[in-house]
Amino acid sequence: MFAVKVPKKEAEKTRRKLLELGVLAKGYSVKREGDFVLFPVTGPLDGFELVEAEFERLEKRPHSYREVVDVPEKVKPLLPSSFDIIGDIAIIELPDELKPYGKAIGEAILKVHRHIKAVFAKGSKIEGEYRVRELVHLAGENRTETIHRENGIRLRLDVAKVYFSPRLATERMRIFRKTRPGEIVFDMFAGVGPYSILLAKKAKLVFACDLNPWAVRYLEENVRLNKTNNVIPVLGDVRKVAGKIKADRVIMNLPKFADRFLREALLSVKPGGVIHYYGFGPEENLFSEHEAKIKAVARELGLNVEFLERRKVRPYAPRQFNIAIDFRVK
Ligand SMILES: C[S@@+](CC[C@H](N)C(=O)[O-])C[C@H]1O[C@@H](n2cnc3c(N)ncnc32)[C@H](O)[C@@H]1O
Repeated sequence: MFAVKVPKKEAEKTRRKLLELGVLAKGYSVKREGDFVLFPVTGPLDGFELVEAEFERLEKRPHSYREVVDVPEKVKPLLPSSFDIIGDIAIIELPDELKPYGKAIGEAILKVHRHIKAVFAKGSKIEGEYRVRELVHLAGENRTETIHRENGIRLRLDVAKVYFSPRLATERMRIFRKTRPGEIVFDMFAGVGPYSILLAKKAKLVFACDLNPWAVRYLEENVRLNKTNNVIPVLGDVRKVAGKIKADRVIMNLPKFADRFLREALLSVKPGGVIHYYGFGPEENLFSEHEAKIKAVARELGLNVEFLERRKVRPYAPRQFNIAIDFRVK
């Protein structure tokens, strides 16, 4: 094929010029010959030294592990189109029919996504007070600790010992944008600190409570990692600290059971303060039951609430959503 031959020192300038002219042939690697570089071009052109040369085709990199995975054709339609990535660890949900092919699926993920070093399958639902799940090792390193980057912060965590979902990054940024300098924040169910550490970049002080000793251990480490010394980690049941703290903003990120902790949240917010409540709701009735509970508990305490914002955070199960309700307490 036709090639433009230029001295090495002119290579970059020439590449840009050929790109600008739209004549650089795609899918081939550039060739080096002594002090010269050869660019494959789509046809003859004026103003360049042209030669005839052969070029190696560039390997087309697959975009999805589904393009390379070695599983029987009949199960291919069941391959999940997405999986969670936490740091350098991938966590995939496999239907029963795919479980015998876990190793092949894990290896295909490692092959396509070079930054992933370990692949696990979800081995159970999220369970218990600590909200963790079992994981089954599929391929790569058999390691569950990693460092995850999101919203400009770094979070060290062990995916087998603590709760963490990368799918909440946008929601956390939404709360960060609402936070005002000088605020006192109470993160009632803090985990390893994805809300607390982010909000600490703006707030005056963040109380970050969690029952899971592993979560608090990582939270303490993440405070050091991000130099957010205005985060106060609290290990234990939030019921013991609620009411002792008076915050401008309270975060209740325990969607499965948040309604059981409304009293504690309402007792911990200053007059005029805001509570970010999370729950799960069916598509046909996302918010009203949660709002009824919020109003009932507020009434018992002689408080009023003003609903500020209601939103679907993410799909949770078929026709079920993780929802957020922001309300002001008066
Ligand atoms: C859904 S996770 C959320 C963690 C974190 N906010 C995040 O976004 O990754 C809920 C957390 O609440 C903690 N938790 C559950 N019950 C609690 C309680 N009674 N007091 C304090 N923490 C609790 C769990 O250990 C878990 O880490």
